Amino acid sequence: TLPSRVKIVEVGPRDGLQNEKQPISVETRVALINLLSESGLRVIEAGSFVSPKWVPQMAASEEVLTGIQRVPGVTYSALTPNMVGYERARDAQADEVAVFGAASESFTRKNINCTIEESLERFRPLAEQARADGIPVRGYVSCVLGCPYEGDIKPQKVAEVSRALLDMGCYEISLGDTIGVGTPEKARFMIETVAQQVPLEKLAVHFHDTYGQALANIYAALQAGVTVVDSAVAGLGGCPYARGASGNVASEDVLYMLDGLGIHTGIDLGRLAKAGNFISNALNRESGSKVARAIAGE
Ligand code: HMG
Ligand code: MG
Repeated sequence: TLPSRVKIVEVGPRDGLQNEKQPISVETRVALINLLSESGLRVIEAGSFVSPKWVPQMAASEEVLTGIQRVPGVTYSALTPNMVGYERARDAQADEVAVFGAASESFTRKNINCTIEESLERFRPLAEQARADGIPVRGYVSCVLGCPYEGDIKPQKVAEVSRALLDMGCYEISLGDTIGVGTPEKARFMIETVAQQVPLEKLAVHFHDTYGQALANIYAALQAGVTVVDSAVAGLGGCPYARGASGNVASEDVLYMLDGLGIHTGIDLGRLAKAGNFISNALNRESGSKVARAIAGE
């Protein structure tokens, strides 16, 4: 059976823009987030407080967070890999922060320069401080269906890292198919394995669409009981430390599918597509969303 409502977490302004070759101005990032805020989305990942040497595209995330027009009821979140990042996010009034680990040792080393164990030790004091400050923490696990360096990843390892993030206080765990290699039955089995450690209602799925499997995988995840889906408007995205990672599944495409299934999200497709068209124009490229392209051609 399928859920009656789903929460979409819009990650385009972060996961999408972190991978762009040319830096995107603060003004454009702010304008994109403001448009997204008008679509009915409840959660928008607005930036990333990582080292600007590692990801120059996300520099000036404080200017983005302080420059946007905040719509009441919308949560503006940001990635924070360590205490330095957390304090930057808090100072910029992020409503929520996210730590990001992985189920692969090699990817963890390439992405955040430490072991899985060290990453968890690094996140723990951050989660404690956030709890004291009243800021919710989300936890990401990358490479849940495969790693660009190690290949197959055991679902048991995904469950183990997810559980560690839950235990330190993350209110939601987002399972990332970073390089988009998953297929529906594998996704379902992985989710069922993780759900033995983390309650299903605390799980989110985060599919990149590299192999065109994202919508099918999301459908499988919904059938398995997941009710939170990450996506990026216009299918923006990728991870600079995962070669071959293409865009996230497009938010417009996810919403079209959910609308068709009669699943409530509270999001208006026309307004969402408007935000997607804005950023596609700003980047001077065709939208990565098939739905957005179809609507534009109507
Ligand atoms: P490091 O070099 O080991 O860290 O990097 P360090 O502590 O030695 O610091 C190096 C320098 O960075 C120092 O500056 C620090 O002050 C500075 P220096 O002394 O050389 O001038 N620094 C910072 N500056 C600003 N903000 C900070 C910060 N931290 C340190 N927060 C580190 C370790 C984690 C910082 C680095 O590896 C990093 O920033 N990595 C981020 C990589 C990244 O953003 N990847 C993309 C996001 S993950 C993703 O996309 C996957 C996801 O979408 C899910 C999925 O698809 O699977 C979430
Ligand atoms: Mg991602």
